[in-house]
Amino acid sequence: MDIAHNPIAPEDAPATPAEPPVILRADYKPFPWLLPETKLVFNLGLEKTRVLASFKVERNPAAEASNELRLNGDSLTPARVTVDDVTVEDYVMDGPDLILTVPGDSHTIMIETEIDPSANTTLMGLYASNGMLCTQCEAEGFRRITFFPDRPDVLSTYWVHMSGPKELFPVLLCNGNKVAEGESENGQHFAEWHDPWPKPSYLFALVAGDLVANSAPFTTMSGREVECNIWVRAEDLSRTDHALASLHHSMKWDEETFGREYDLDLYNIVAVSDFNMGAMENKGLNVFNTKYVLADPDTATDADYDGVEGVIAHEYFHNWSGNRITCRDWFQLSLKEGFTVLRDQLFSQDMRGEAVKRIEDVRILRAAQFPEDAGPLAHPIRPDSYREISNFYTATVYNKGAEVIRMMRSMAGLERFRAGTDLYFNRHDGEAATCEDFIKSIEDGAGLDLEQFRLWYRQAGTPRVKVRQETARDGLTLTLSQTVPPTPGQPDKQAMPIPLRVAVHSRATGQIGEEQLIVLTESEQSFTLPMAGPDPVVSINRGYTAPVVIEHDVPLEDLGFLAAHDDDPFARYEAMQQLSVGHLVAAASGELDETQRAAGKTAIGDALAAILTDEALDDNMRGELMLLPSETYLFEQMASGARLADPGAIHAEREALKTALGTMLKRELEGLYARTASVGFDDPTGRGARKVKTQVLALLAASDPEQAAGMAAQQFDAADNMTDRQGALMVLCGIESPQRADALKAFFDRYTGNDLVIDKWFTLQALAPHADVIDHVKALAEHDDFTIKNPNRVRSLYMAFADNPAGFHDPSGDGYRLIADLILALDPINPQTAARFVSPLGKWRRIEPKRAAMMKAELERIAAASGLSRDTSEQVTRSLEG
Ligand code: BES
Ligand code: ZN
Repeated sequence: MDIAHNPIAPEDAPATPAEPPVILRADYKPFPWLLPETKLVFNLGLEKTRVLASFKVERNPAAEASNELRLNGDSLTPARVTVDDVTVEDYVMDGPDLILTVPGDSHTIMIETEIDPSANTTLMGLYASNGMLCTQCEAEGFRRITFFPDRPDVLSTYWVHMSGPKELFPVLLCNGNKVAEGESENGQHFAEWHDPWPKPSYLFALVAGDLVANSAPFTTMSGREVECNIWVRAEDLSRTDHALASLHHSMKWDEETFGREYDLDLYNIVAVSDFNMGAMENKGLNVFNTKYVLADPDTATDADYDGVEGVIAHEYFHNWSGNRITCRDWFQLSLKEGFTVLRDQLFSQDMRGEAVKRIEDVRILRAAQFPEDAGPLAHPIRPDSYREISNFYTATVYNKGAEVIRMMRSMAGLERFRAGTDLYFNRHDGEAATCEDFIKSIEDGAGLDLEQFRLWYRQAGTPRVKVRQETARDGLTLTLSQTVPPTPGQPDKQAMPIPLRVAVHSRATGQIGEEQLIVLTESEQSFTLPMAGPDPVVSINRGYTAPVVIEHDVPLEDLGFLAAHDDDPFARYEAMQQLSVGHLVAAASGELDETQRAAGKTAIGDALAAILTDEALDDNMRGELMLLPSETYLFEQMASGARLADPGAIHAEREALKTALGTMLKRELEGLYARTASVGFDDPTGRGARKVKTQVLALLAASDPEQAAGMAAQQFDAADNMTDRQGALMVLCGIESPQRADALKAFFDRYTGNDLVIDKWFTLQALAPHADVIDHVKALAEHDDFTIKNPNRVRSLYMAFADNPAGFHDPSGDGYRLIADLILALDPINPQTAARFVSPLGKWRRIEPKRAAMMKAELERIAAASGLSRDTSEQVTRSLEG
């Protein structure tokens, strides 16, 4: 090969560019070439796979003409390149990319590459997992397989011929439909696949392995039969029924709710053990983390079942919101992810109840997205720049993205919103679209003016809405004012439209007020609302219509009223949370004297007592109302404005509250436990009962650890399902007791060899509020079953630990060092996963000075390491800059 023309020959390139180049949204240019059809020939082997890619290029009339054809590559060297069947020697390498000069209007390109999947620890591109081969191409993994215009706006139809040893790879899967298969000499066999739908390279997938399927057909609304398969290793087959049922439910729901029908005769889902993410929506061939496929009552909790259902739905819904209409560039990621998260949330609401699912989703938003919006990595749901796109698969793009579209839905109403999405799907089918295309479709289809609303796509930061109320002659006047805090690169913000469902109840009469939707569009604005009677109590942001923080001084007795009586279940939850948050933040900030402290605890105890004994309440909802705000959320609330968070004080106050509640409500808690413990697994109310039971134990654990340990050990021993077993073990893990070690050992022995359950065993110990948790985690990292090569196992130990404030924020700083050491060890193996551990350290600016200095020092230590990946270096740099 001729490297004389290389602007940057690989051997001259610095080991790590100090600052990887910044990609700007404003720089988008269409690709100069069209690739109507792509042919791929794979000769598969675990250690050596040969790939022959051929495609015709034609000039793109919509792009600026160019004779340059840039084919992206990553860790590839071309074995052979031909243009119009003539071997080319004088191609140019521009860093990892291959550049050809092609003067005509149309050319045929052929490229051969050779890769070693078994050596691929990044789990991007083609890699080996458990003896099988699989791919992950989003966002930029296809370029690790062959040189190609690896960008989402280049759509092509794919013909794939795959061959390999039949013994090792009896099943050969790819996108679309199988069009041929057969045997060849030397134990080899082959399959040919054709995907009729043009797609970008990030949706390409291939799987080869020893797999079996759980199959059942689905008949679509137009009467076509679709073969649905869940492919797993033989020993996992008995745990796939829930995944298959979830797929069928999703297909039906998308027809009924969004009018979307599936468009191939085959839908394959494959479960793999080594996977960076949850799952991937490759056309007709989804690849899933086993965690989101496998479930049976003995090994999966109720929450795990929900996870499977939600992720299966999410990837299925991408077939329209993502695949039929894809993204023009990666800045538009929220176009497919935000919208698809909203679709999966609405699906799960319909499957298992709106109220509880909404509360769960808000809790996730507050735990994962609010910190992002308040920290150094804050970015709008449609970012303006990035260095490594993998770092932008964030809670902001996903969860806030979903909230933004949910607001459009609230403002339009269900019917008009559906008209908007219908128009979007029809107008842009087959295209690579933008967020702007989506907004315009909703505007036109739903008849909304979204001019000012577009700010939600441009501005980062969680808006804060201050509420003042005044009783007027004709009703209650609410004066609302909004501010959007400054975020990196965005010091000044404009007012955004904030839709809020509100009602005014009467505490004196107990009368519930009528709800209406108001939209705050100015910096400050007043609204007059009808009152239901004297002593008005305002219920605002009901159903959590807007992803904002409400600042409203509500007297304790009003919060108690809302918690007990509001007709909006989310508002009840919110009032409970506010009671506890207000008390805990004030207490942790040293703002309460003993009398105030006692009054706060009593108010919370009274409200909780009402919830524990409310017979009209379903246990699933009761379980939500019983949950105290997490330490992470309290951290966010404490670190607002000029105040810094003190994780030690937060932990101490929250534990003290739990102890007080456990003591105060001992009788109610024991009564509730007795009732729920007698409900059988298959009882229709069993799920709610299981949820409440473990929460009771968690409260008793704080007030009477010995009693709680006894009850938990009994629940553990008697459990006939994973929810009860894991719940009991979770409680035991936080109590130093003889039962703790016994239960951990019994759990481990029972599930040896079941990776997903052993992950739980690691997680429960790393997440425990135990004084020795750092030592436990260090020991677990040396355990025979720990491996840094498997992302599920790494997350099960270290993500859990980073989420455990009592461990991570230990005053010694050892928790910070543990995570920094992990990042440094993991970065060369799996940079994408390593980079995800940086953000916990990035909270340093909002924390008390001692811990802040130690966190910053760890970030600086990582930054100083040589050969850091683009993924990690981008996150560390941003975290230090802020
Ligand atoms: N498209 C993503 C998977 C993905 C993300 C691939 C980032 C490569 C990089 C998929 O649709 C997805 O969003 N999966 C989520 C789960 C979902 C339920 C939010 C995931 O994997 O976490
Ligand atoms: Zn997705």
